[in-house]
Amino acid sequence: MLAATAVSQSASDPLSGLELRDVPVPAPAPGWSLVKVMASSLNMHDVWTLRGVGHPADRIPMILGCDAAGYDEHGNEVIVHPVLGDPEAGGGDVTLDPNRALLSERHAGAFAEYLTVPTGNLVPKPSWLSFDEAACLPVAWGTAYRMLFTRARITAGDRVLVQGAGGGVASAAIKLAAAAGAVVYATSRSEAKRAESLTWGARAAVPSGDRLPEKVDVVIETVGEATWAHSLKCLKPGGTVVIAGATSGANPPADLNRVFYQQQSVLGSTGCTRAELVALLRMMEATGVRPVVDRTLPLAEIHQGLRLMIDGALTGKLVIHPNA
Ligand SMILES: NC(=O)c1ccc[n+]([C@@H]2O[C@H](COP(=O)([O-])OP(=O)(O)OC[C@H]3O[C@@H](n4cnc5c(N)ncnc54)[C@H](OP(=O)(O)O)[C@@H]3O)[C@@H](O)[C@H]2O)c1
Repeated sequence: MLAATAVSQSASDPLSGLELRDVPVPAPAPGWSLVKVMASSLNMHDVWTLRGVGHPADRIPMILGCDAAGYDEHGNEVIVHPVLGDPEAGGGDVTLDPNRALLSERHAGAFAEYLTVPTGNLVPKPSWLSFDEAACLPVAWGTAYRMLFTRARITAGDRVLVQGAGGGVASAAIKLAAAAGAVVYATSRSEAKRAESLTWGARAAVPSGDRLPEKVDVVIETVGEATWAHSLKCLKPGGTVVIAGATSGANPPADLNRVFYQQQSVLGSTGCTRAELVALLRMMEATGVRPVVDRTLPLAEIHQGLRLMIDGALTGKLVIHPNA
């Protein structure tokens, strides 16, 4: 089968380390299932692995891809919960297991015609959701769901700022927060993405770093250095910033005086539990909210897709078809 495999790592030229290889179809271990991947989607995580960030060189080569939707061996339509670990080791929360791994970190990922995962990581795919839509959910949408509802605990009427509107996580956060009755503001470097975010439910969208119409209760941060100071400035006293990523850099000035004087909370967030992924599906069924799919590409064109992601040229998610 064809698989997009990280064979080397380079900070300056990450795509040079990605090869399309012919590899054997994997055989599932006891308690694991074989999944025929109908759709996957790109995440910045794939780029970080190729850059050598957070992925040790001794785990190369590795088939990339963190998101998968497809068929199990019995023909059931499934979505893969991508966090592999032991919930008990995390006090009941697999995302807190110190030894957890996202798909493609220690186990072969989803940019392949087939993958194997623990059977407990399979979630039934509802019939009202397409494979393409389902493949957008496990990482980006699951992360946005946990940031908003588990970590920030937003409630209807809260004011929420989402930084970097065009991102996979950010577009999900805008749609989910709006569906939950929040007043949503967004920032983006791109005028087109700002305009599009208004159609997803944002009340207003401003260029990155510009003043908002009002202070907010919660900021959803995945951009990092480029937006961090703005995120803290936009919070009302007692507000909360939830951070799950730092695309533009991870070491901004901390602005500690503002954090303590304004009594701000800074919360980290990573991934989602299987239960949160199931709750996300229920929310989507109830509200009709669906992912923003920028485009779909066959696996053979994955380099082009990752280039668009690195260049910030995508709006929402790019879906990959490994079996096209
Ligand atoms: N902790 C977790 O579990 C988790 C899960 C998913 C993602 N993440 C992390 O979260 C980050 C976003 O992931 P993603 O998949 O949503 O990526 P993405 O789709 O590529 O989105 C990144 C967004 O960040 C904004 N951005 C990038 N550079 C910027 C800059 N210099 N100034 C202002 N805005 C900038 C862009 O927004 P505009 O183009 O609209 O300005 C872009 O749309 C990544 O670092 C990823 O690794 C973490």
